[in-house]
Amino acid sequence: MSSESWPADLGPVVCVVGARPNFMKMAPILRAFAAHQPALPTILVHTGQHYDKDMNDRLFVDLRLPHPDINLEVGSGTHAVQTADVMRRFEPVLDTYKPSCVLVVGDVNSTLACTLVGVKKGVPVVHVEAGLRSYDRGMPEEINRVLTDQIADLLYTTERSALDNLLREGISEERVRFVGNVMIDSLLSNREFAHSPAKTLSEAGVDSVFLDEAHAYAVVTLHRPSNVDQLDTLQALLSVLREVSEKIPLIFALHPRTRANIERFSLRDLVRSERIVLLPPQGYLEMLGLMSDATLVLTDSGGLQEETTALGIPCLTIRENTERPITVEHGTNTMVGSDRLAILGGVDEILAGGGKCGRIPEFWDGKAAERIAADLSKWLIARNLDARK
Ligand code: UD1
Repeated sequence: MSSESWPADLGPVVCVVGARPNFMKMAPILRAFAAHQPALPTILVHTGQHYDKDMNDRLFVDLRLPHPDINLEVGSGTHAVQTADVMRRFEPVLDTYKPSCVLVVGDVNSTLACTLVGVKKGVPVVHVEAGLRSYDRGMPEEINRVLTDQIADLLYTTERSALDNLLREGISEERVRFVGNVMIDSLLSNREFAHSPAKTLSEAGVDSVFLDEAHAYAVVTLHRPSNVDQLDTLQALLSVLREVSEKIPLIFALHPRTRANIERFSLRDLVRSERIVLLPPQGYLEMLGLMSDATLVLTDSGGLQEETTALGIPCLTIRENTERPITVEHGTNTMVGSDRLAILGGVDEILAGGGKCGRIPEFWDGKAAERIAADLSKWLIARNLDARK
């Protein structure tokens, strides 16, 4: 699409980010629009769901995300308060900009809140990373996914199984396009800039004797409410991690929710060890470097399951289910739940050289955002022509 042929009466694409896992998905999309559809105007709205330096600012810099045009500054709150605040503050943005569509990514509260506002105001909504299902309605993200996909107009998927999930929910195939994984676009384009683990550790003031001669270590992240919000569960998991640390040293990047709960439940002693390094939430390039050189990753994050598959690093996922089954079927991911023996057994198997090798899933090739830019501009123009008839 050349700039001359972009219809003057088509408003901008309002792109929404809210929380950390949105940033790595939106960065390649904005770059693809700028490179391949330069005439297509975009407005970047940050809801402010994540706001502090570690969860927000560093990632914007690392991912070369432009400064948001608008920040709604909603901050933390209960799900109801956070979702409602995003909705109230997002509505005037649509009144002001009269966008051609709202583009949301992922499954956080901001994703659903902005989808609801867009749809109710008659603005088409485009959801990137549609159709993923854990089939666990106890997960707040699952509710966000199901509702967003039900009402959004155009659904871009990361893996083929997502279409089956959507069809099962009565969503018409015409609304769904398989384009691949924009998160992997970010990973591939940033791999060469990843920080070395030695640099990350020394900047955090960690002595390198922490690592053994083989420089083997495991990266740990935990933040799901189901794992960290109850004393018993968190205590049991931290005890297992301590046992794991006797086999391999751990680099544990602590999410604010997890750090707060460790303090609240007085569990600090469980993670006080020469074999466990506690770090604040890491920047994107630090985390990429840490994962790339790790012997294994232990996590409950959705994103890390995909990133380890793309990097070929064995991943043990501390959850009972995953909305990203391709990482288990094709990738390096193994679900171990929160069962002590399953976690320890999984670690032993990897350390004995038996970790999964995996292969790269279809369309996880660094070009997903380009596919979205090309398809979306065609879709918007076709819609615009229809509306004029
Ligand atoms: C949110 C997303 C989750 C995503 C995760 C990544 C939802 C429902 N959940 O969960 O899908 O995997 O982000 O981090 O949208 N906090 C800070 N600084 C910040 C942001 C949060 O200290 O910049 C603290 C607050 O005390 C807050 C807690 O972390 O209460 C949790 O943040 P919140 O955005 O509510 O949910 P997450 O658990 O981060």
